[in-house]
Amino acid sequence: MNTYERAVSLLHSVKHKFPYFDIPSLQIGDLTVKLPIVQGGMGVGISLSGLASAVADQGGIGTIAANGIGLLEPDYFKDGKAANIRALRTEIRKAKASSAGIIAVNIMVALQDFSQLVQTAIEERVDMIVMGAGLPVKNIPVAQMREAGIKAVPIVSSSRAAELIFKMWKRIYKDVPDAVVVEGPEAGGHLGFSEAELTDPAYSLETVVPQVVETLKPYSEEFARHIPIIAGGGIYTGEDIYRIMQLGADGVQMGTRFVATHECDADIRFKEAYVNCTKEDIRIIKSPVGMPGRAINNAFLEKAEVSKRSFTCPWQCLAGCRADEAYYCISLALNSARQGKLDRGFVFAGSNAYRVERIVPTASLMRELVRTYLQAKIKDVVRFDIDFSKVFHPAAIMTSPV
Ligand SMILES: Cc1cc2nc3c(=O)[nH]c(=O)nc-3n(C[C@H](O)[C@H](O)[C@H](O)COP(=O)(O)O)c2cc1C
Repeated sequence: MNTYERAVSLLHSVKHKFPYFDIPSLQIGDLTVKLPIVQGGMGVGISLSGLASAVADQGGIGTIAANGIGLLEPDYFKDGKAANIRALRTEIRKAKASSAGIIAVNIMVALQDFSQLVQTAIEERVDMIVMGAGLPVKNIPVAQMREAGIKAVPIVSSSRAAELIFKMWKRIYKDVPDAVVVEGPEAGGHLGFSEAELTDPAYSLETVVPQVVETLKPYSEEFARHIPIIAGGGIYTGEDIYRIMQLGADGVQMGTRFVATHECDADIRFKEAYVNCTKEDIRIIKSPVGMPGRAINNAFLEKAEVSKRSFTCPWQCLAGCRADEAYYCISLALNSARQGKLDRGFVFAGSNAYRVERIVPTASLMRELVRTYLQAKIKDVVRFDIDFSKVFHPAAIMTSPV
C-alpha cells in the first residue's frame, strides 16, 4: 500500500467510526433523505421521471415538474388540463416504477390547474409536493395531504414570504408546512425578485437563509417539530452545500447541475447550451408572465425583446398571463427548447451554468457533491492546507450515496 492508498484507507475508516465525517441526511418529518440534496423541479419537460428517478436512486429527492407537462401529450392543444393531468400521472408512475427513492412533484401556484395537479399528485401518492411561483396559502388540501403522508413544501425568496405563509397556514389549517425551500437570486428559471433586488446583497441566499431560520423558530417550537430549510440558487459544489448548511440550511435544492446529466429529460441540444455558454451569455429576461427569469441568451430572446411573435394561446395555462400583450408564449417557447429547437425557444439556466464542462451521469454528480462536501468539512474542521484533490481521488469516495 503506498502513502496515497494509506491516507484514503485511513479516512475511510474514520468515516465509519465517526459519523461526524459524513454528509448529514435530511429529515423532513418522518421522511429520511439519505443525502441532503433536492433536485429542483424544472418545468416544461426538463425534469420528468428520468431525472427524478435517477436522483431518487442516488439517495436525494427527485422532482417532477408539473407545469407544461401536458405538452408531452398529443392532445394538449385540444384539452390542456386533461393532458397535464394524464402526463403528470404517467410520469409519477414511471418514476415510482424505476426507483424506490423519494419522489416529489413541483407545482406552480400560478398555474390555472394548480388544484387539479395537486389532487393528481395526492392520488398517485408522491412523497412531497413543492409549491412555488406564488404563495401557497389558499385552497391547499392540507388535511388530505397529511392523511396521505405527503410532505408540503412551499418555495420562498424572503423571510417575509415565509412568515406570511406560516401565519396563514396556522390560521386557516391549524398546521404548518413540513419544510421550506428558500430560493435565492442566483437560481435558474423564474425568480421571485425584482430586477433591482437580484443584485442587492440584502436578498442574497446567504442573507436570507439565517433570516428564515429565525422566522421558523417559533413555529418549530409551537408545532413541536423541526422545519427544515432547503436552500437553492447558485449551489454548485459540495463546498457550496457545506457553506450554506453552516448558515442554517438543512439541505439544498439544485437545478443547473442536474440539467447537465445524462438522465435529464431535455434534448441533448438543451444540455449542450450549458456546456457551450459563457458567463456573459447568462442574462436576466423579463418573462411574459411578468416575472424576471434567468436564461442563456440567444437569437430568439433578442428578437423577442423588439418584436412580437404571432401565436395562438393554447389555453390560459398561467392564471396571471396576459396572452394578448405577451411578445411570445413562454410555454410554447420552453416546449421548443426542451426538444432542442433553440431557434424557436430558449434555455433557462442558473447563474453558474457557464461552469458546466460536460454532461455526466447523475450518479457521478452525486458522488462528486458528497466528496467535495466532505473535503470542505474536513478542511474547515482540521484547518490546515492539504491538497484534497490528491487525497480524495474520485476512485476513493468515502461515502457511497446508495
Ligand atoms: C431549466 C430550469 C427550469 C426551471 N423550472 C422551474 C419550474 O418550473 N418551477 C420551479 O419552481 N423552479 C424551476 N426552476 C428552478 C429550480 O427548480 C431550482 O430551484 C434552481 O434552478 C436552483 O438554482 P441552480 O440552478 O443555481 O441550482 C428551474 C430551473 C432551471 C435551471
